[in-house]
Amino acid sequence: MTVLRDTLQGALILAPMTKGSNLPYRQLCQELGARVTMSEMTVARRLKQKRRSEFALIRKAPDERFFGVQLAGNKPEEMAWAAELVVSRGADLVDVNLGCPIDYFTSKGLGAALGREPRRVFRIVEAMKKAVPVPVTVKIRLGWNDEHRNYLEVARAAVDAGVDAITVHGRTRAARYTKSADWAAIAEVAAAVPVPVIGNGDLLFGHQVAPALESSGCTALMSARGILIKPWLFREVTEGDLDLTAEERIAIYARYVALAKLHWRDDEKGRARIREFLLWHLGFWCRYAPPRADGTFPIMQQRESWTPRSPLEALLARADAGAHGFIADALLDTVVPDPAAAPEPTDAGAIDDDAAEAG
Ligand SMILES: Cc1cc2nc3c(=O)[nH]c(=O)nc-3n(C[C@H](O)[C@H](O)[C@H](O)COP(=O)(O)O)c2cc1C
Repeated sequence: MTVLRDTLQGALILAPMTKGSNLPYRQLCQELGARVTMSEMTVARRLKQKRRSEFALIRKAPDERFFGVQLAGNKPEEMAWAAELVVSRGADLVDVNLGCPIDYFTSKGLGAALGREPRRVFRIVEAMKKAVPVPVTVKIRLGWNDEHRNYLEVARAAVDAGVDAITVHGRTRAARYTKSADWAAIAEVAAAVPVPVIGNGDLLFGHQVAPALESSGCTALMSARGILIKPWLFREVTEGDLDLTAEERIAIYARYVALAKLHWRDDEKGRARIREFLLWHLGFWCRYAPPRADGTFPIMQQRESWTPRSPLEALLARADAGAHGFIADALLDTVVPDPAAAPEPTDAGAIDDDAAEAG
């Protein structure tokens, strides 16, 4: 679809992320430059069961430019029904999850387990294409493990069924986050299929975007953890790498709180909700590390050890739950947290990527 290719061309897309792609965070990302945003993984069966919590995931923000909803399911009719439903609620694109690694879902034949069944993928995409007028996409991994790397087969099955674009997360299910993404394999998919390919894996700095697009032949890129750590990654794509001060970072986090208060309300219940999300986000925000003095860059696979340049920056780098609770409370009260009043370090609050993806 030409129109979709135009929308995607050169874009950095906010990845679908359980918890992370919540509505106010998507709004924040859009304010920082995101043109295409994705929902959290939404289980088709739970929509059918009319679960309110699942309906919350498919809600498009009033000003959201191009909102893709990601669905998990393995029954063609159910996925076609769910696609129709989410499009009636404003989705601009519907994506099929073929990569979720979590045992709970794979044991039900969803996510990465579905990625092992190209023929079923064909039937699901075919049914969804018949059901909705908007683009239908799939998000795949390279395979189940190193012995079963079936990405070309899955990609071709999706193309045969009429898929409009394919996102490739350059890892197998077994690899989880231990190894770097395999961009050569992503490039292989881009060269093999006639539809736009969206490359995904390990992007952390704006300067990586143009070379990744160029060398992979992808139409667009997608980032998950990079954007959780640095929502201003979108700005870096147009402005170049940024080394924000702690105060500038606080202003961005405070904006998230303002958007969250509009969404969940600024009452007791809303604030409790927002606090829970803030604690979660702080587990990623604390992982920010600036470009190194020698001109090289921190990488996603390694926790950077660096020296904060101010007391506030040192506070934001703390990974313990005590610091996160303290910062969250200050942000909720719309004040800048005072490093001098921060509690002594407690247990760890920083997030393990695999555990985070489990939601
Ligand atoms: C907290 C978290 C939640 C995620 N949830 C989803 C999800 O719901 N659907 C999905 O397709 N991928 C999900 N992923 C995987 C990401 O979309 C992405 O493919 C992966 O993290 C690799 O990109 P990155 O290296 O930029 O993080 C999640 C990742 C994280 C860190």
